[in-house]
Amino acid sequence: MVVGLLDGAFVGRKSRSTLLFHDIQVAIAGSGAEDGSTEIKNRGIPLKANLSSCHPSYPSGDQIGSCCPTPAWSELEIIDFQFPDPSSPIRIRRAAHLVDEEYKAKYEKAVAIMKELPLDHPHNFWRQADLHCIYCTSAFDQVNSTAPFKTHHSWLFFPWHRALLYFHERILGKLIGDDNFALTFWSWDHPDGMHFPTMFTEGALNNTERDAIRLPTVVDFNYNEDRGLTDGELVLDNLALMYHHMVSGAKKAELFMGCKLRSGVDGDCDGGGTIEESPHNPVHGWVGDRNNPVKEDMGAFHSAGRDPVLYAHHSNIDRMWATWQKMRNNELEFDDDEWLNSEFTFFDENLQFVRIRVRDVLNMSKLRIDYQDIGLPWLDTRPQPSVHPEIARSILKKRHDHNEGILRMPGETAEAHKLQRNGRLDKSITIRVQRPRINRTQEEKHKEEEVLFIYGIDTKRSDFVKFDVFINAVEETVLVPQSREFAGTFTNIDNSCTNPKGRVEKKKVKPHLKLGISELLEDLQAEGDDNIWVTLVSRGGTAINTTVEGIRIMYMK
Ligand code: C2O
Repeated sequence: MVVGLLDGAFVGRKSRSTLLFHDIQVAIAGSGAEDGSTEIKNRGIPLKANLSSCHPSYPSGDQIGSCCPTPAWSELEIIDFQFPDPSSPIRIRRAAHLVDEEYKAKYEKAVAIMKELPLDHPHNFWRQADLHCIYCTSAFDQVNSTAPFKTHHSWLFFPWHRALLYFHERILGKLIGDDNFALTFWSWDHPDGMHFPTMFTEGALNNTERDAIRLPTVVDFNYNEDRGLTDGELVLDNLALMYHHMVSGAKKAELFMGCKLRSGVDGDCDGGGTIEESPHNPVHGWVGDRNNPVKEDMGAFHSAGRDPVLYAHHSNIDRMWATWQKMRNNELEFDDDEWLNSEFTFFDENLQFVRIRVRDVLNMSKLRIDYQDIGLPWLDTRPQPSVHPEIARSILKKRHDHNEGILRMPGETAEAHKLQRNGRLDKSITIRVQRPRINRTQEEKHKEEEVLFIYGIDTKRSDFVKFDVFINAVEETVLVPQSREFAGTFTNIDNSCTNPKGRVEKKKVKPHLKLGISELLEDLQAEGDDNIWVTLVSRGGTAINTTVEGIRIMYMK
């Protein structure tokens, strides 16, 4: 059924929300600042934490908590990171579903010892868990700023977690006297590894704060609630999503790595890369216990480190980064000193307090780490359109014609549509978005990726929120990531990266979503169209309190 006209309103089937004419306003061309698209200029100041600034944060919803280390990090002597001896053996991280009993016993023993260290020992398992809380709920401010220091939803995501794993692994090895000890990865991107890895249900590797109902099934990368899919369907959906987030949607460094977080309050940005959005976030939510306030342990940043499986989950996240680096011939992600010199501090296996910079973690072989090769089955799972593009286009064109005069507004020159109060995602929203350039050549597309920019996403940071984005969808309610119309997903897990009330009131930075769509538009045969239909679908009603300011097309070098 096509969308019709009713009293000046753009209405659809029951599932579609009403988008009123006067609620769509066109943003004036050039007013980019308010949609967060204006880049803060490179000021040469790398990000680092002010180690004297540790303060309570909001680890869980509105509840204030503290994960500040004792003794305070500001009292410790810091040394610069040194690369391991280049002739030392490479630690090969193997897939959790392929490791042998001997390895499992070794890993379990190391974690058991870690859990029994004195509580104030930096290698103690719970102190290790606190690292994730410290860096992820913004317990520290940045140097020279009241802005929080945080390591998610930006280009710090992959580097910080790589450093976390690096030190955690060496500490585990040290505790069992094995200099060659390597972590294991939960290979959720491979059909054989898509179940929860059973080794993490035994002994010290077990954790009671998990969602027992989920664990025997195949993981769901588009998880928010039970989608009623069979294991076989989930495998196909997951592989399609992997293709999308590793290949077609990840053609530029910023799309894959996350937005360019600059130092200071003004430089704040909030937009994770493809893999951080999914599978990273949904897998956290899928493992966490639904009976806990914010799905602790894995479902919330403050508690994720208490579940040993965090390290296996992140080893695979890190493996995806390493894979993506290889796929683009290890070309430097960002030739930008602010990023390269951003720094983090960790305790190493010798209890030294170490400063490590982003530039130190870019090259796996210098860190003497590698991953077992188990193949990349998602490389050839390019999604197909769910409706033949020609049929879809004729349906969509009819809808468009029916609504001529409503959506094509006088003076509409900018590419932006601004959704006001109806940008509320309690139901699905469909909006037509103009494409400033059409019929671009392959060379142009290679130089500049076409990006769907969904900005001003306003959501309560402690809510678990998820919505999917589709392009030219005829029937979005039945679409899944296996459909080429699927352009990406937004997931917010509890990460209340805010400072306690009354401490700092800074400008609220709203998250955005940038989705690379050049290849997708080719597959939908839409490269010649001067506009596309974008549909946002709240999953499981989680986006009921979420609003979106607008959607537009941009081009990314
Ligand atoms: Cu630091 Cu998986 O989150």
